[in-house]
Amino acid sequence: MKRSKIKTLLNASQPENSVLLKGWVRTLRESKNFSFIELNDGSCLANIQVIVDEDLGNYADVVKLTTGAAVTVTGELIESPGKGQNWEVRAAEVEVLGTAPDDYPLQKKRHTDEYLRTIAHLRPRSNKYGAIFRIRSKLSYAIHQFFQERDFKWIHTPIITGSDCEGAGEMFRVTSFDLENVPKQNGKVDFNEDFFGKEANLTVSGQLSVETFATSLGDVYTFGPTFRSENSNTSRHMAEFWMIEPEMAFADLQDDMALGQEFIQYLVNYTINECAEDLELFAKFVDKNLMTTLNNIVSHDFVRLPYTEAITILEQSGKKFEYDVVWGNDLQSEHERFLTEEHFKQPVIVYDYPKDIKAFYMRMNDDEKTVAAMDILVPAIGEIIGGSQREERHDVLTRRINELGFDEVDYWWYLDTRKYGTVPHAGFGLGFERLLMLVSGISNIRDVIPFPRTPKHLEF
Ligand code: 4AD
Ligand code: MG
Repeated sequence: MKRSKIKTLLNASQPENSVLLKGWVRTLRESKNFSFIELNDGSCLANIQVIVDEDLGNYADVVKLTTGAAVTVTGELIESPGKGQNWEVRAAEVEVLGTAPDDYPLQKKRHTDEYLRTIAHLRPRSNKYGAIFRIRSKLSYAIHQFFQERDFKWIHTPIITGSDCEGAGEMFRVTSFDLENVPKQNGKVDFNEDFFGKEANLTVSGQLSVETFATSLGDVYTFGPTFRSENSNTSRHMAEFWMIEPEMAFADLQDDMALGQEFIQYLVNYTINECAEDLELFAKFVDKNLMTTLNNIVSHDFVRLPYTEAITILEQSGKKFEYDVVWGNDLQSEHERFLTEEHFKQPVIVYDYPKDIKAFYMRMNDDEKTVAAMDILVPAIGEIIGGSQREERHDVLTRRINELGFDEVDYWWYLDTRKYGTVPHAGFGLGFERLLMLVSGISNIRDVIPFPRTPKHLEF
């Protein structure tokens, strides 16, 4: 007999006289001549109720089952006379696969997120974490669907790189050196001796690589893990996160902003339509305004606001910010949140940022002070997307690389794409975990990724 998923059984249209299910006991309740087991197998939020009659051969073992135990149940799917469920299973046989001693760390009571982080290997068995990781899986699929429907090609960009895309130097080194005995040349580490014969790092972004593919295949995207050693212990940063980076050839900043909005709206809509049961949990227990926020996102165009105007709004807001508002400084999270949560009360795309706070590859505007960058800001999170039109002019790009003190030689292949058949192109990066925070109302990024990597935390 094939194992049924509880999700399928709960949506059955008719009774079934023989079903097989396997899962974990959420609760067991003893009644007079029988017991109820609430069983969950991770396929959905809801449990199925299993009725176990005292006539069962191993009934004495079954009634001893506790939260967390694993069982196999064979039996009949019948209409449930009880309230709150349409179907239940009358067990013909219950096999105990694994008991769970009293010290099972996930008891029925509500645990704090902080505590659950310390048992990240078990937290997906809880309702909330089961729900967010099912949504995470669904949205990964939706991301590919979005791009494949629009004929973007998925490019697997390398994890190990020799370049620092963002130029921020927040990179984890990759080496096969024996750290106790590093080869040196004139007192300096001799990377010629290292595995790649040069310095190597984990990627901070697949952008530079994917740009080269945009200039061959047209519209492309990457979706993979990204690593940053920035030592910011915030609720929105991790050392390892997943990023989606589309890149469009023959496109400018307007196209980029339009794609960013369409992408976010598509994913929010997808969550509303395809993850309704799990989403309800978040709307009820995590963020009471969640559905209002999400419906607002899908039903309005995002505000488009030049950086310079954003600064004026912030200056005139009369708000006391921790960080001063100064033209030329980067927007802090408190500024971003003021714009999107209080001032506009909807997502805002800020564009044309000062060149000095943005990466070398962004296209220089005619004013020579700003670049064709755009960040998409959303309520509760702030920046969720960072992108730009890229500098496609060979001479301007070379000038920028030199101005910033980078070595032109390291970028020879990147510059080649501007030398041979250069075209306007644009793209962005969306932080996958920030998207998951947006659709769930979860306020700490550590709670939307299976095993968070943050400064001083590498358990599991
Ligand atoms: O704005 P960022 O740094 O942009 C880039 O990396 C570009 N190369 C993208 C591109 O144009 N192809 O990062 C993009 C997004 C941010 O908006 C944020 O959502 C997320 O990645 N992000 C992080 N998420 C979690 N933890 C971190 N440490 C993050 N750093 C950035
Ligand atoms: Mg950014």
